[in-house]
Amino acid sequence: MHTVTVNGISLGYEEAGSGTVVVCLHGFPLNHHMWRDQLSGLSSQARIVAPDLRGFGMSEVTPGVVTMEQFADDTNGLLDALDINQPIVLCGLSMGGYVAWQFIRKYRERLKGLILCDTRAVADTTEGIENRQRLAKLVHEKGPDAAAAAMLPNLFARTTIEERDEIVQFTRQMMLNNQAEGIAAALLGMAQRPDVRGWLPGIDIPSLLIGGAEDKISSPTEMREIAAAMPNARFVEIPSSGHMSVLENPAAANEAIRDFLDRL
Ligand code: MLT
Repeated sequence: MHTVTVNGISLGYEEAGSGTVVVCLHGFPLNHHMWRDQLSGLSSQARIVAPDLRGFGMSEVTPGVVTMEQFADDTNGLLDALDINQPIVLCGLSMGGYVAWQFIRKYRERLKGLILCDTRAVADTTEGIENRQRLAKLVHEKGPDAAAAAMLPNLFARTTIEERDEIVQFTRQMMLNNQAEGIAAALLGMAQRPDVRGWLPGIDIPSLLIGGAEDKISSPTEMREIAAAMPNARFVEIPSSGHMSVLENPAAANEAIRDFLDRL
């Protein structure tokens, strides 16, 4: 694990491999460990850089609201701090995908490819925003446990829950290792994120979309619609997995990513 100062705060990140840089942005409320199988399984082909976003894991917490744009600015700052000047592939899962939309808007010239995993293009509904605000308050009062209790039941395929408790516990531990202020700030930031569906036809970067066949948060139907609206995107459905496709079925997810990187 390394740390670097970006935009006045300390950010933690892990990296492995060499070659094309693939920056992997984690989902909520997780950290870079969710990319364990990509850090180990793709490092023979690419340089995988997986930061802890502001407020998560080893990275410094800034309380209040952290917007998806702020996370994108931090990602841009991380590239500068690591002297990465060649075009990169940006890979984001769920909240990491929300950050990717903002990165595309502001730093398009830094990208040569996009990998969007189990993510959404729509904004939160009014009810969704209220739920986020309620959960942020609860997390302030009760700690990360409250976020784990709310999120865990929705993240996995049935077979993961029934037969692969290691993955559930690993994910739970990532959640508990975060600080309440960081979790709450990201919740309020996600609640503010815009609807980006109107941007999709203009995103012509080569893009791979992957999503779990049993994803209850960002369904394969929704992911397929996003891919169809982008001029240069392909969707690959990952079997035996829910919202955490890259962790639940790393063999299939890595195969899709490897194939995408080969063709870039
Ligand atoms: C995530 O996995 O990052 C979350 O499900 C995103 C969300 O709550 O919208």
